[in-house]
Amino acid sequence: MKITVIGAGYVGLVTAACFAQKDNDVTIVENNQAKITALLQGIVPFYEPGLEQLVANGIADKKINFVADVAQALKKNQPDVIFSCVGTPSREDGSADLSFVWQVAQEIGQQINGYTLVVNKSTVPVGTAENVKAIIQEQLRLRSANVPFDVASNPEFLKEGDALSDFTNPDRVVIGVDSEKAAQILAQLYKPFLKNPEEQLVCMDIPSAELTKYASNAMLATRISFMNQLALLADKVGADIEDVKKGMALDQRIGKHFLNAGIGYGGSCFPKDVKALIHTGKEHHLPMTLIQEVDAVNMQQRQLFFNKIIDFYGDTIVNKQVGIWGLAFKPETDDIRCAPAIDIIAQLIAHGAQVIAYDPVATSNMQQLFKNTVTFAQSAQEVVKAADFLIILTEWHEFKAYDITKLTQLKDQVIFDGRNCFDPELMQEQGFCYINVGRNVHHQNTKKLFLTKKQARTCQPPCQTA
Ligand SMILES: NC(=O)c1ccc[n+]([C@@H]2O[C@H](COP(=O)([O-])OP(=O)(O)OC[C@H]3O[C@@H](n4cnc5c(N)ncnc54)[C@H](O)[C@@H]3O)[C@@H](O)[C@H]2O)c1
Repeated sequence: MKITVIGAGYVGLVTAACFAQKDNDVTIVENNQAKITALLQGIVPFYEPGLEQLVANGIADKKINFVADVAQALKKNQPDVIFSCVGTPSREDGSADLSFVWQVAQEIGQQINGYTLVVNKSTVPVGTAENVKAIIQEQLRLRSANVPFDVASNPEFLKEGDALSDFTNPDRVVIGVDSEKAAQILAQLYKPFLKNPEEQLVCMDIPSAELTKYASNAMLATRISFMNQLALLADKVGADIEDVKKGMALDQRIGKHFLNAGIGYGGSCFPKDVKALIHTGKEHHLPMTLIQEVDAVNMQQRQLFFNKIIDFYGDTIVNKQVGIWGLAFKPETDDIRCAPAIDIIAQLIAHGAQVIAYDPVATSNMQQLFKNTVTFAQSAQEVVKAADFLIILTEWHEFKAYDITKLTQLKDQVIFDGRNCFDPELMQEQGFCYINVGRNVHHQNTKKLFLTKKQARTCQPPCQTA
């Protein structure tokens, strides 16, 4: 099939490369000049394991080509299907900014010449497909063209870091359509990726498909905020949230995913989609009270974590060299959009601390935000050698597998772990002051035990000794 994909971001480029791999002819439209220059040189301008090779294969097989605008794409090759994969960021009021979606619809209306299926893959509020249809119809009317087209919704569920396997081996593919032809085209495109198409291809009306994406992300965010709030209680009552999680996860009705307590979710999807769902509720005079709490708990989690650092160090933080491990909003990506690290670093700097940070792949993105105010290290070890104490903000495998005996190089022997990367009892044995999320039962023990050890002097909160 001839496919045009608009937007060469995480979703668009993965969609394009995976369809090209299945022998479709794919034209990618990207209007960011720097991105298109990189892509034409075979460079994927963000980190996604395996993607660069897959794109290179597509280019070598002449299955992928790149253009800078919709007009060029459609002049070159009238496609059967156009996937719109542009960004839908949050506005100030939490609503989704759909300006890129409207712009794409307009360009499509100005250019299509034969039947085209226009598929919206971006995460968009219910009603967006209807508006896209109206915009295309208006453009056709303006040029007195009578061109048949359909609009469909096909929300994307891939996870950054696992995007290729999520796309090529999905749990399900959701398609929202209002014509049999659109349903058939999408079924034909996706069948090669599905083991059991009958079950996995979930076909529905367009508003339901649009809402399914928000419902899925809001449910996952809810699980995270639920565990984070329970972690606060666990600290108060002397329970270990990791044990609580294990006890819950083996219940098949609950399952094990998205139950990790930590510093809260970030990224380009959960925060904005939760906010957009709240906004949609407001528009319909139906307050999404549960989801509002999910959002509030998530933001509070960052602040409470930072408060632990200030409670511990007080004003002495101004003399501290603070080591940070992890800048990306989660492992296996260089995406820092809404990453907790941004808030934590900004607050440390505002309190007068010096910051030295390391992330396996997200450093250059963070450098753009904190160019002159943060030192960026080349390795986890470099941070440990330079820092008074350590803060862990992303649970990269590299950190979880770190030889903890080397952490003794930290001057204060203090670690604030926002992702519960280490076993508190092992940290206790090593004599660290290890402050985590919801595993305080061990931390309390740590403190008692620690005071009996030689390093006890260094673990005593300086703010209490000053
Ligand atoms: N990133 C994810 O993990 C993920 C997962 C599922 C769904 N989504 C949703 O998919 C959508 C895209 O997300 P993303 O992370 O890929 O965004 P992104 O910002 O990485 O990519 C969007 C791309 O579209 C390009 N673009 C914008 N307007 C254009 C135009 N008129 N013509 C050509 N190119 C244009 C931008 O330059 C950018 O490269 C969002 O709605 C997002 O919520 C994202």
